Amino acid sequence: MKKQLGPKTMIMPMPALLVGTYGADDTPNAMTAAWTAVCCQKPVCVGVAVRHNRFTFQNLEDKKAFTLNVPRATQAAEVDYLGMVSGANEPNKVAKAGFDTEKGHKVDAPIITPCPINLECALKDKMELGSHTWFAGEVLEVHVDDTLVLENGTLNINKLDPIIYITAASKYHTLGDPVAQAYSIGNKFRNG
Ligand SMILES: Cc1cc2nc3c(=O)[nH]c(=O)nc-3n(C[C@H](O)[C@H](O)[C@H](O)COP(=O)(O)O)c2cc1C
Repeated sequence: MKKQLGPKTMIMPMPALLVGTYGADDTPNAMTAAWTAVCCQKPVCVGVAVRHNRFTFQNLEDKKAFTLNVPRATQAAEVDYLGMVSGANEPNKVAKAGFDTEKGHKVDAPIITPCPINLECALKDKMELGSHTWFAGEVLEVHVDDTLVLENGTLNINKLDPIIYITAASKYHTLGDPVAQAYSIGNKFRNG
């Protein structure tokens, strides 16, 4: 038996990320976003759904650039604050959260320096969907804390310790244990 709940945003879990943009006076802003996704490999694109009343929305419209920053679980309080307070009312919210920023190397958007991974994105397209607009950006540069990069070029995901957001419970979690090797365990159903 299953219960029908009607249309709901029932995809879980999602990473909690920070969208970095500059305001009209070039003050750095950061907005917490869980509704993000990778949406293309060639060119590499990522996107974020932004509600129209966010300060970030106007910044995206004006500057046509953003950063997606991956915080650590230890930064959950900062992430939560940046997801409750608007840059429209608190222009110094990034500094109040104790976060430094630096200008993007490739786009007109701030890198949130204490976050160990930062994607610089140039706005490529947008789609009006209703309450939210989907902003898709082409990733022009990625910065990664060098202590996370393994010798084979992959990332040490446990050391990254990202924040997993569970919508239904409004809770921040950490990563659980691996369950299987991807592109491998499914092979048991081939030739069956
Ligand atoms: C965990 C979490 C996830 C959120 N995800 C989104 C999101 O994906 N899109 C969005 O528009 N707002 C999202 N918000 C709300 C914004 O972060 C919040 O309204 C913020 O104050 C907007 O900042 P700004 O007005 O400075 O842009 C989220 C908030 C939290 C706490």
